[in-house]
Amino acid sequence: MATTAAVPTINEERMQAFLHHVVSDFAAALSSTLGYIGQRLGLYTALRDAGPMTPEQLAKRTGTVERYVREWLVNQAAGGYVDYDSKTGKYSLSPEQAVALTDESSPYYVGGGFYSVKAMQNAQQRIEDAFRNGGGILWREHDPDLFVGTEKFFRPGYTAHLVKEWIPALSSIEGRLRAGARVADVGCGHGVSTAIMAQAFPKSHFYGFDNHEASITRARELAKEWGVDGRLKYQVADATQIPGENYDLIAFFDCLHDMGDPVGALKRAFQVLAPSGSLMIVEPMAGETVEENFNPVGRCFSAASTLCCTANSLALGGPALGAVATEKQLRETATAAGFKYFKRVAETPFNRVFQATK
Ligand SMILES: C[S@@+](CC[C@H](N)C(=O)[O-])C[C@H]1O[C@@H](n2cnc3c(N)ncnc32)[C@H](O)[C@@H]1O
Repeated sequence: MATTAAVPTINEERMQAFLHHVVSDFAAALSSTLGYIGQRLGLYTALRDAGPMTPEQLAKRTGTVERYVREWLVNQAAGGYVDYDSKTGKYSLSPEQAVALTDESSPYYVGGGFYSVKAMQNAQQRIEDAFRNGGGILWREHDPDLFVGTEKFFRPGYTAHLVKEWIPALSSIEGRLRAGARVADVGCGHGVSTAIMAQAFPKSHFYGFDNHEASITRARELAKEWGVDGRLKYQVADATQIPGENYDLIAFFDCLHDMGDPVGALKRAFQVLAPSGSLMIVEPMAGETVEENFNPVGRCFSAASTLCCTANSLALGGPALGAVATEKQLRETATAAGFKYFKRVAETPFNRVFQATK
């Protein structure tokens, strides 16, 4: 006799709360696209510079079409990204909104996130195919806004913490950098981390490596823009073939977990590190258990990992450590490459910083 599946009992209150949660996510996803448009068209910077404006005034100032701007502003005010004065019909940015949305040099800037989200969403079809068939998508195959977004989104964290907290937290490194040391920044991307270190430690020599040629080109431009191009050198190179030798510090910023051969990369780092040198491995914040990632940061990083980090490693037949790799996995990776000591020395809500030595 066929059995009838039990009809699950729906708790109406829990159902409504869940639906509200999902609809909020739809609102966030759609609004992120509008945030990207606001960044690209200078709508936020215009509001910052000109003060409270009507949709007509904002459209005129930015050379955009009023009807779109009017709709955009309703969305932005509904999301708390801009303020609205119903008496005047004008929209404005509070000091906090202005800094977070427009000031790229501030540690509070979040605008880069819109570029990363947009680029990762563009990877959907490739990733859906990879779910079915395996494989992945290489870093360089993504929408170029991913590289722009990474530069803009990671810069605030490096500005706030790298020189003031992370380097001082490494045992016996800061003094060497002040005196003059050799530093490799592996998987340097657009080189924001390299340039920040070069600004802070003028007696040291910095070498940035990445296997993505377009990123190295941009890193060279950025070093010129920041006036530090005389103090650092960039080269296209795979992490498993880091050029040079005798580095006092080798850094991997938010890239080890992406790599096709993270053990191979750290083995090469072991070979070219000075005997008393150190590795600094900066990785996204993640928990030691699955459930420790059940928070907004873990949600963001596991999504980015699916669409980008895990996919890059799987495209190369790698172990796919992913953005929420545990400390245990990272320690095992360093140990497999020959490093004896491995320690978490600092953390922020978004990053874990590890030191490894021979
Ligand atoms: C998430 S981005 C981080 C970029 C940069 N470190 C930062 O923090 O802004 C990861 C970077 O790792 C680089 N990468 C991945 N695998 C690599 C490899 N095997 N050798 C060199 N670079 C690699 C990518 O090209 C990309 O620029």
